[in-house]
Amino acid sequence: MSDSPVLPPAPQHCPTPVELDDLELLVSGAFAPTTAFDEPGSPITLSLPEALRDAPTVELVDPEGLPLARVSGGRIEPLTHAQFGPFRDHYLSPATTREQYAGRTFVPVTDALTTAQLDELRELGPLVLLALAGTGTPSLSPVGLVRATLAAARALPDAAVVVVPFASHGDADLDHELGVRVVDNYAQGDPVHGLADPGDDDLSPEIGAIVDFDRPAPGEQGLVLFFTGLSGSGKSTLARALTDRILEQGERTVTSLDGDVVRRNLSAGLTFSKADRETNIRRIGWVAAEIARHGGVAVCSPIAPFDETRQQVREMVEDAGGHFFLIHVATPLEECERRDRKGLYAKARRGEIPEFTGISSPYEEPEDAAVRVDTTGRTIEDALGDVLQELSASGHLVLDEPRAEAATPGPSRRPLRVLFVCTANICRSAFAEVTARHLAGDGADLEFISAGTHGHDREPLDAEMTAALSPGVEPGEFASRPLTAELVEQADVVLTAETRHRTFVLEEHPQAFRKVFTLGQFAAAAEASDLTGRALLDELARRRSVPDPALDVADPYRRGPEAARAAADQITGHLEVVIPALTDTVPTHDAKDR
Ligand code: ADX
Repeated sequence: MSDSPVLPPAPQHCPTPVELDDLELLVSGAFAPTTAFDEPGSPITLSLPEALRDAPTVELVDPEGLPLARVSGGRIEPLTHAQFGPFRDHYLSPATTREQYAGRTFVPVTDALTTAQLDELRELGPLVLLALAGTGTPSLSPVGLVRATLAAARALPDAAVVVVPFASHGDADLDHELGVRVVDNYAQGDPVHGLADPGDDDLSPEIGAIVDFDRPAPGEQGLVLFFTGLSGSGKSTLARALTDRILEQGERTVTSLDGDVVRRNLSAGLTFSKADRETNIRRIGWVAAEIARHGGVAVCSPIAPFDETRQQVREMVEDAGGHFFLIHVATPLEECERRDRKGLYAKARRGEIPEFTGISSPYEEPEDAAVRVDTTGRTIEDALGDVLQELSASGHLVLDEPRAEAATPGPSRRPLRVLFVCTANICRSAFAEVTARHLAGDGADLEFISAGTHGHDREPLDAEMTAALSPGVEPGEFASRPLTAELVEQADVVLTAETRHRTFVLEEHPQAFRKVFTLGQFAAAAEASDLTGRALLDELARRRSVPDPALDVADPYRRGPEAARAAADQITGHLEVVIPALTDTVPTHDAKDR
């Protein structure tokens, strides 16, 4: 048998019988006169794995194992026709096509028809659009080509669509010869119309939409970000940082397939032998390709030491319509071994772990990586920057600037924001805001604002409460405001005059439950704690106590100077505990994550 492949080469690991997706090419009768592989001058050849070259009979099966044809002594015996697959009814043999459509003009179609090409065809009378659908179709998947051709037929006065499976064989002359024979076989003397070169002609909106769905723009295409490198090179860390960034951006769905994690579930039980590593990587590739098929992003980070297996993953992903983006985390062995975070290199050197990559098992450096990063002496953000830059240049994923350069400082670097809440924001919470600012003084890293659950915009501090301010405290520019979701969200702590205000805030903003207290409740808790600043807020957030209504500050509004004085004293007393407690006296607490 010849070596020149007409059918795609069978995968090396393929068992007998041979599995070939494109077998319909032979069994559908497209080549009725040519059923032998070894006919002189025949363009039909079949490549077989080395192990099967001398087999007297080879059975060709579909991907599920259904026998489709038998090849023996260079001759092919069809066993059955493919019965499933999209648009199967349009896959007609030359004989059936002749029965139904003899006398028409035959038009070979290998791409979406442009508006100009459709105009050209309108003049030709009844047509058969012969869609040569196969893996070599210039820009469309087989199903995409058929959908586009059916849409074209709907736009023409009288056109039937017949689909012929037609795989490219990577040899333009051979493909052309094969194409001519196939078309002649269908037309059998009827006119064959070759389409004019489409150039940059427009597509109709319907056909354009089919093409866009079939071949999404790079930014919408399924994407497999595949990190490869030695254990300890920084693959997983980079992969996690990248995954976080994709999630933070929130425009794509993402699945992480980390080497160690996969080995605990999908690949549990596999060893580190060459064969098992290949199986492991092919499993990752299979899952990643399915994710890509659905337009998702898969972030993979196994060692994947073998070039051939990585190539197989690339092929699987590309066959599924995804983009494969290989990142070589090229941190040298010496650095990985120096880090030895899991202590595995030391064990491998002592001979306690066999076949350890880099020590007693090879790592084949990729030559086809889109990016190569050495993490030695670099921060993760910095190294990730190289990956993001390349990704962005490829158009497949454009993420924001690295976090280190982001404009908004993190919560630990800005002052703590305290929000006081009462009903109208003219008595209690307003008084608290003004007094707190006075007590804290200029140097404190605290911000105070206040709002009312039923507050009006821009009312001044109530006259009785103004009179109750301590000597030297001025209302300044104070103006009331209603409570908003944004104010709650931006606050580090919300302190309410009464329990019912706290309930009101939590009904509207239940997610804020860790930071909303009554002023009395917070003062009592702060008094009982040794912590200050953010550390205190962290501790109280975890504790979740219930407020005591006895500590509520009653409403003094229109109840005369006595009531105003009582409320003012109560608020001032609470604040004299709260303000020092919120003032961070131990600087290291600042760095603590909240
Ligand atoms: S791969 O070769 O099949 O791609 P994979 O990424 O899944 O490897 O697993 C590598 C992880 O398994 C390493 O990070 C390390 O923690 C652990 N490990 C255990 N034994 C070996 C070994 N012999 N070689 C490499 N890594 C090993």
